[in-house]
Amino acid sequence: MVKTGRSIFLILLVAGISPGVHAEKATVTIQACGPGKPISPDLVGIFFEDLNYAADGGLYAELVQNRSFEYSPTEQPDWHPLKFWDLQRRGGGDGSITVAEMRPIHENNPHYALLTVRRAGEGVGIANGGFDGIPLTAGETYEASFWAYQAFMGQMWGRGDNSKPMPVTVRLETTNGEVLAEASTQVQGRPWRRVSAKLKPTQTVGDARLVLLAHETGGIALDVISLFPEKTFRNRPNGLRADLAQTLADLKPKFVRFPGGCLVHGGGIRRYYDWKETIGPVEQRRARRNSWGYHQTMGLGYFEYFQFCEDIGAKPLPVVTAGVCCQHAGSSPGRGQEGLPMEEMPAYIQDVLDLIEWANGPATSMWGSKRAAAGHPEPFGLEYLGVGNEDAITPIFKERFKMIYGALKEKHPEITVIGTVGPFASGQDFDNGWAFAQELGLSMVDEHYYVSPQWFWDNLSRYDTYDRNSAKVYVGEYAAHDRDRRRNTLRSAIAEAAGLTGFERNGDIVQLASYAPLLARRGHTQWHPDMIYFTATEVFVSANYFVHQLFSVNSGDTYFETVLSTPSGPRKLAASSVRDSTSGHLIIKIVNGEDAPIPLTVTLAGLAAADIRSTRTVLTGSDADAFNEDGRPPVVKPVSDDMTLKPTFDYDAPANSLTVFRIRN
Ligand code: AHR
Repeated sequence: MVKTGRSIFLILLVAGISPGVHAEKATVTIQACGPGKPISPDLVGIFFEDLNYAADGGLYAELVQNRSFEYSPTEQPDWHPLKFWDLQRRGGGDGSITVAEMRPIHENNPHYALLTVRRAGEGVGIANGGFDGIPLTAGETYEASFWAYQAFMGQMWGRGDNSKPMPVTVRLETTNGEVLAEASTQVQGRPWRRVSAKLKPTQTVGDARLVLLAHETGGIALDVISLFPEKTFRNRPNGLRADLAQTLADLKPKFVRFPGGCLVHGGGIRRYYDWKETIGPVEQRRARRNSWGYHQTMGLGYFEYFQFCEDIGAKPLPVVTAGVCCQHAGSSPGRGQEGLPMEEMPAYIQDVLDLIEWANGPATSMWGSKRAAAGHPEPFGLEYLGVGNEDAITPIFKERFKMIYGALKEKHPEITVIGTVGPFASGQDFDNGWAFAQELGLSMVDEHYYVSPQWFWDNLSRYDTYDRNSAKVYVGEYAAHDRDRRRNTLRSAIAEAAGLTGFERNGDIVQLASYAPLLARRGHTQWHPDMIYFTATEVFVSANYFVHQLFSVNSGDTYFETVLSTPSGPRKLAASSVRDSTSGHLIIKIVNGEDAPIPLTVTLAGLAAADIRSTRTVLTGSDADAFNEDGRPPVVKPVSDDMTLKPTFDYDAPANSLTVFRIRN
């Protein structure tokens, strides 16, 4: 077990030895040949929540905003079903657009647009500018699609010729009306039908619009008007934005927790996130108000989450509610927790069990067949399921959690159920949550903490004393929140790196960890700081991103004892060492949180080789306040070089740095 700088300092004082005025070198001694202790190979993952436009307008590649005419004032006061749509009357054309509900495409998708053309002119239609303008790349292919039926031809109440189709032009245009790409389609017949066209814009623009123009007098119903780039991540249909998904994939996360967070609770009892409404054809999914005050299409639903996990080699970790809403719901913050009525619990529990069948059951099972119908006959291999998020540990909560857990244990003992221990790192819910977990014999609980950088340094040994026979820990949400508008400073990232050394050292207890929140769209951000910021076309990674990437790509499955000694007094210094049995590499991480370099002597005890081949990667910056700015090359980023080490070597750990030595002997 590591002795921290503080404990060594205390030992010296107790022994009557003065730490001395002359700074003696700090040392890091690693038992480089073991024996090590097995630790979780899944430690570093990601937590994806649709917060800050992370899904719609973010990871989900849909370029049209309010495609299904379901925006509503419950989401934002000035939102309504036609929000972000403009009526187009071109070249003498005249007509109108209204919202209709009479003949919806599906009961889950109740609103649609009725476009009436009174005088065709050069076209009457609608336009959508997406999320702050539609970004297009010249020469790339985009698929525009919409669902439509022919309401009438000619005058609405007159005699039209309904055997005649309504010609509709689908266009990509600049804001000045310059045509970038165009296709001719038509709408015919009374049943709802999907119409699609491929478009290849001639210019790269950041603020294009998708325009549909009808060319005869008459009326057509329109819904789910959509535009996707053909190149989504792994070219999946209804897929993910390639650059953002790749940025997540580059983190090499071992798992993905989704969909929340607070999002799983929704805005009150019975408004919880219902996974069943997020699968199947997109036009049949029920869009809803996002808990963070905007709109979720559910186009990025459970199938897409699981598929993404598989695509990036991460384990899925879905979270469901524990049959209660958030304690902050309603008008009594902190006391608004309500439970589903007992008579509704069996159906709710069945939904949770069905999720496991949907993910893991054979394609012949009732729910497995829905997964197969979506194109994935093989099971997804679900191992983890979170139940609850930051809940107040009350009798209402406990009663319902027990019922859900009991059913899961009985029917799916193979699933690791992860309980919650409230919103903070300590306190009443934390204590009660842990006591409850022990009472039930839970195998894992989810701890959350958003705290200062100093907190991480003060709590480096938090898990050293955890009961090894109790539940394991998933640190499901954490971040160091620095002063100064909660920026992603190097200080915050380095504090998290120090915390991660503590997770690694206790990797027999801390099985999983995920920073939060993950993604934030500039101009639509409800929470700071976040790991990754983005605009319509750019992705900006923080210092915190690089810290987590370094821990993830340099993870191991065995921890090797690493002892720090800081004879000249306590320092912000942390270290951990792991071995990755796949590559056979020994990986040492050294974190210096001081504003000055710390000269170190590092000893690889047990390694006899004269020359030890290593890659050194250093993440640091000009000072602790350094941060990566949008639109500029990151100033805090890892830099690697190859070097040859001796079994004992001197190393000046730079100020505010994380150093990773990857030893290949
Ligand atoms: O990560 C942002 C929010 O913080 C999560 O939704 C919630 O669980 C926590 O309070």
